Amino acid sequence: MDFINQMEPSFDEKERKALDEYLLSGGWGTEFKKTREFEDMIKAYTGAKHCWIMANGTVSLSAALMAVGVGVGDEVICPDYTMVATPNSAELIGAKAVFVDINRKDLCMDFEKMKAAVTPKTKAVLLVSINGRCPDNIEEFVSFCKGKGIHLIEDAAQSLGSFKNGKHLGRFGEIGSFSFSMPKIITTGQGGALITDDDELSEKIKKIRDFGRDKGGSDHYLTKGWNFKFSDFQAVIGIEQMKKLPERVERKKEMGKLYDKYLKDIPGVKLVKNDYNDVAPWFFDILCEKREELQQFLKDNNIGSRIFYPPLHSEPAYGYNNLSFPVTEEIACKGLWLPSSVFVTDEQIKYICEKIRFFYTKN
Ligand SMILES: Cc1ncc(COP(=O)(O)O)c(C=O)c1O
Repeated sequence: MDFINQMEPSFDEKERKALDEYLLSGGWGTEFKKTREFEDMIKAYTGAKHCWIMANGTVSLSAALMAVGVGVGDEVICPDYTMVATPNSAELIGAKAVFVDINRKDLCMDFEKMKAAVTPKTKAVLLVSINGRCPDNIEEFVSFCKGKGIHLIEDAAQSLGSFKNGKHLGRFGEIGSFSFSMPKIITTGQGGALITDDDELSEKIKKIRDFGRDKGGSDHYLTKGWNFKFSDFQAVIGIEQMKKLPERVERKKEMGKLYDKYLKDIPGVKLVKNDYNDVAPWFFDILCEKREELQQFLKDNNIGSRIFYPPLHSEPAYGYNNLSFPVTEEIACKGLWLPSSVFVTDEQIKYICEKIRFFYTKN
């Protein structure tokens, strides 16, 4: 059996041909019609009124925070368990990331702990839908934040293709953010996007990402803005990837169901429950005993895997070693992502799960 990567790029002849055609068409490369077309596809898929595509899913979050007025000294509540870009996007603009623990059920920010972390300086909450799962009570986050005048931004970087009761994730908060980095369900190498239904916020985002210009190409600056723009080279690839999204969403769901079936009842392995009516898991996650030994055993059997993110508060970058977030700390020691590329076959999933079962029952 060839090595099964935990993740792998997902381009084929379609992207190659589209890029070839674009290059022959005399396109200038910089964001223009192809980027607008890619944005239209995201709008149509998610149902959002506005979409702005940007350089990556970190600066898109910073742009969202800037658009709602977060600045130096403001506090932004983030989950302790997330990709580091979530808190860093707040710190990048001089705000302070305030960490809170997650809940055990879906590994998203804990609602009660979020409420307890609010101070007079809290300006925004970055709610991460981890692995395509949002908290069950996302509507409560929405109404609590509204009531307190706190801006709710959804970091849906891992959630394109995932919904809650039929509504696409990223549409519950005032703004939702996506990432198109390599391991995501669709990728443009690097890339990010913001969606919103709010006309005013959309206008602000439009300017923030393009030097504060009043319109494309103009040298008249209405606000301070930066260069968070995309390129049409990438948009050409994004358009092809979007065409593949519906089938990838279905495949991710099928894969999740297969993993669940084969991993059920293995002592030492716990699954994080997904509602496949709504969720297209980004990665396939398990919580396991003897994780490092299992990872080595899988590697020896040609199976790639990746351990969960660490508790961010105690990483050297933040160094809040006096704080404790027990759920994050526990799952960060036990969590492992199994091969998650849409190219992993049913047969490979069976093989991976048999190896895991063997590790826990025969070891
Ligand atoms: C939850 C989360 N937020 C933000 C990001 C940042 O996105 P990017 O890598 O496009 O900057 C990622 C990327 O993996 C992510 O998983």
